[in-house]
Amino acid sequence: MKREAKNTMLALQPIPKTLVSCRDRDGRNNALVVGFCANVSLSPAMVMVGIVPSRYSHHMVKESGCFVVNLPAKGYEKEYGFLGSKSGRDGDKFAAMNIAWEDARYVDAPILSDCPVHIECKVVESIMPGTHELFIGKVEAVYANEEYLDEKGNILWDQIDLL
Ligand SMILES: Cc1cc2nc3c(=O)[nH]c(=O)nc-3n(C[C@H](O)[C@H](O)[C@H](O)COP(=O)(O)O)c2cc1C
Repeated sequence: MKREAKNTMLALQPIPKTLVSCRDRDGRNNALVVGFCANVSLSPAMVMVGIVPSRYSHHMVKESGCFVVNLPAKGYEKEYGFLGSKSGRDGDKFAAMNIAWEDARYVDAPILSDCPVHIECKVVESIMPGTHELFIGKVEAVYANEEYLDEKGNILWDQIDLL
């Protein structure tokens, strides 16, 4: 016997664990936890991130037209928790957590160096169907730690201990 749930929010589970990093026009870096993240096109490859306009990161993605989706691995729980609960509006989150970062390769954003996989995206479209602005990003590059790639360049997903 099935019973209808009263709470219909976040019914699609599990929610992906991603960290989206971005940069404003003055060069300030930031990152936040994004559970609203999905593949939306195979060719060209595209990925969507949903960001609530009140997040400090929101204007950064709007301004720069790009973002990086970083996939954190086990051991990054503390940083994940911090980036998903504190706002860059109240101070530099990277400095506060000593987060290692470097410039992305194809877009104007930082990558979180200690995450094993990075997806660099340029925004091609955005829509606001409800609470989150959905930024659809064309995937410019995906890269991973050397040990997680086979000789053909496929990512060895089963070998990465993602969060
Ligand atoms: C599990 C989890 C999932 C989240 N998913 C999203 C999301 O999809 N979109 C969003 O805008 N905020 C999401 N958040 C909230 C932001 O990560 C959080 O508000 C963050 O502190 C915003 O940082 P910022 O103000 O520096 O951008 C999520 C938080 C957690 C813990």
